[in-house]
Amino acid sequence: MCGIVGYVGARDCTEVLLNSLSKLEYRGYDSAGIAVLENDEIRTCKAQGRLANLEVKIKQAGGMSGHCGIGHTRWATHGEPSDINSHPHGNAIVSIVHNGIIENYKILKERLEKKGYTFISQTDTEIVAKLLDHYYNGDPIEAIRKTEAKIEGSYALGILFRDFPNTVYAMRNDSPLIVAKGDGEAFIASDVPAVLQYTKEYYLLESGEIAILKDGVPSFMTLDGEPIEKELLVANWDMESAEKGGYEHFMLKEIHEQPTAIKTTITPRIIDGMPNIEECGVTPEMLRDFSNIFVVACGTAMHAGLVGKYVIEKIARVSVTVDVASEFRYRSPIISPNDLVILVSQSGETADTRAALRLAKEQGAKTLAIVNVKGSSIAREADFVLYTHAGPEISVASTKAYMVQIAVFYLIAFELAYVKGKISEEECCRLTKELTNVPKFIDVILSQKDNCQYVASQLVNSENLLYIGRGLDYALSMEGSLKLKEISYIHSESYAAGELKHGTISLVTEHMPVIAVVTQRDLFDKTISNVKEVKARHAKTFIVTHQYINIDNDVADYKIGIPTIDDLLMPMLAVVPLQLIAYYTSVLRGNDVDKPRNLAKSVTVE
Ligand code: M6R
Repeated sequence: MCGIVGYVGARDCTEVLLNSLSKLEYRGYDSAGIAVLENDEIRTCKAQGRLANLEVKIKQAGGMSGHCGIGHTRWATHGEPSDINSHPHGNAIVSIVHNGIIENYKILKERLEKKGYTFISQTDTEIVAKLLDHYYNGDPIEAIRKTEAKIEGSYALGILFRDFPNTVYAMRNDSPLIVAKGDGEAFIASDVPAVLQYTKEYYLLESGEIAILKDGVPSFMTLDGEPIEKELLVANWDMESAEKGGYEHFMLKEIHEQPTAIKTTITPRIIDGMPNIEECGVTPEMLRDFSNIFVVACGTAMHAGLVGKYVIEKIARVSVTVDVASEFRYRSPIISPNDLVILVSQSGETADTRAALRLAKEQGAKTLAIVNVKGSSIAREADFVLYTHAGPEISVASTKAYMVQIAVFYLIAFELAYVKGKISEEECCRLTKELTNVPKFIDVILSQKDNCQYVASQLVNSENLLYIGRGLDYALSMEGSLKLKEISYIHSESYAAGELKHGTISLVTEHMPVIAVVTQRDLFDKTISNVKEVKARHAKTFIVTHQYINIDNDVADYKIGIPTIDDLLMPMLAVVPLQLIAYYTSVLRGNDVDKPRNLAKSVTVE
C-alpha cells in the first residue's frame, strides 16, 4: 500500500526522500512522487511506475534541491496509476502525501466545486489538498484542524506549506505513521525501514495527533493545540536486516532466515523445557478457561491460523474456528466474553484484521494479537500481544512471518493441552523439545534446494496447478498454493485430497501438475490413493514427504524428501520446499519476485 516519507534537516532532501522511498518499495506501489521546498517554492515531480522513472524525471527537470520535503509511493485505489494521480497533490501553497482512503470524498468534492475549486486527478487525496488550501489563512494548524473535522476515513498525511519553509506537518487517523528523530533532523515515514539508514529513534504518531517537524526537531500536539510528550522508541531492527545481504531477492533471504526467526521467537517462551506465554498477560489459568478460540486473519496469516486450529484441536481438544478477516463480520459470529479471539498479522496494520479485532472487542471477547511489527495498530489495540520476532519482512510474499506465526501456535497448543490435562508434563516437554529441533532440520532442507529448483523447472510452463493434502497437510497445501500463485502468476488451487473426486478431478489432465503434501503418516495410504487417482488421469505428480519413505515411480514423478520429526510439527518443515518451489518458479518466469503485480505488503484498506 502507499508509502509516505518526509524530511527536514541539513541533508539533501531529494536524496533522503528517494532513499527512504526505496525502502518502502516492498509495500507495493505503481507510481511515486516528491515535493521539495526550494527557494520558498514548492517543487513537485511525479512519475508513474518504479522509482527509477521518478529519478529520471527529477534529473530531466534539472534536479531538485532543498532541506525540507515529502515523498510518496502510491498503490492505486481511486483512479488508475498515472502521473496525474500520483502524489504529492496540492498547489503553490500547500502540498500533501496521503496513505489511506477518504470515504466521504465525493460529497466534499461537490462542495468544493461549488466554491469554485477544480480537480485534475481522480484521487480522493486531491480533495484533502484543496480543503487545506480552502481553510489556510496563514495558520497551518488551524487549516489542518478544520480539514480533519471534515474528512472521514483512514489517513496518514504528510503536509508542506510554502510559507513555512523548514517544516513538515503530519497527521493520522488509523493509517500508521512514525516520526523519527535524528541529530538535528527529523523524518516521517509509513514504516521504520524507511528511516533505519539515518536513525533508529522514532515516535508512533497516534490518531488525532499532529506532528510538527520544525527545523529538524519533532514536536506533537492534539488537534486542540495541547502539546503532547511522547515516548521515544528505539527500533530493534538494523539496516542489514532490511537489506538483501547478498541474496538475489528478499524472499530467498527471508526463507533462509527462518531457522533464526524460529529460535528468536520461541526461546524466550520456553521455561524449564515447558512452553510459557504468560509474558503477554495470558496466565495458564486464563488459557485453560477460554471456552472457544477464534482465529481471524488474512492470506498467509490466516493459513497459519489453520495449522494452529488443527494442532490445538488435536492435542488440546478446544474448538477453534478460523475466519478470513474480511468475511468475519458478515457471518455475525457468535462470540462470548469467555472466548479468545486470536488476530494474526505480520504487519499489524491489515485493515480487515483490525476491523475483526474491533468486532471481537465489542462483543466482549478477549483478544490476543500474534504480530510481527512492534507497536503496530493491532498490537496496540488487542488485549494481549505475542510478538513474533522475525525481523522485518520485506518481500510481499510472506515466508518467515508464517513460520514464526505457526511456531507461536505450537507453543499455545502445547501449553493449552498441558493446562487442560490433555497431555502430561513429560509429553509437553517432549513436544516442546521437538519444536526446538525444527531450525536444524530446516537448515538441512535449505541445503538441498536443487530439488525445488528442479520441480520449478517442471512447472514453469504450466497454466494451472493443484495442491492436495489431508489434515495438516491440507492446511499447509493452501499456503503452498497461495505462495505459488501470488509470485509466479500460475493459477493454482489447493484441495482436500479426498474432495477431488467430488468435482475438481474433472480438470485433471496431463496439463494439470499436482503437488501432494504427504507428511501425516496416519493419512499416508489415503492420500497416496488420491495421488494415484490423478496419476491415472495423466497428471504429473510431485510429492513432498518424509525422506525415508519410498514412493513408487508409478505414483510420483518426483519426490521431495524432507527430514522426519513428530508429525504434528511436519508443516514447519514441509512448508520450506513449497516456498522454494514458488520462489524458483517465479524466478524462472522472470517475475519481480519481491514485488508481485497488484499486491501490497501491508493492506491498509478494507
Ligand atoms: O500483514 P498481514 O500478515 O496481516 O498480511 C496478511 C496478508 O495480506 C498477507 O499474508 C498476504 O497474503 C501475503 N502476500 C502472502 O504472502
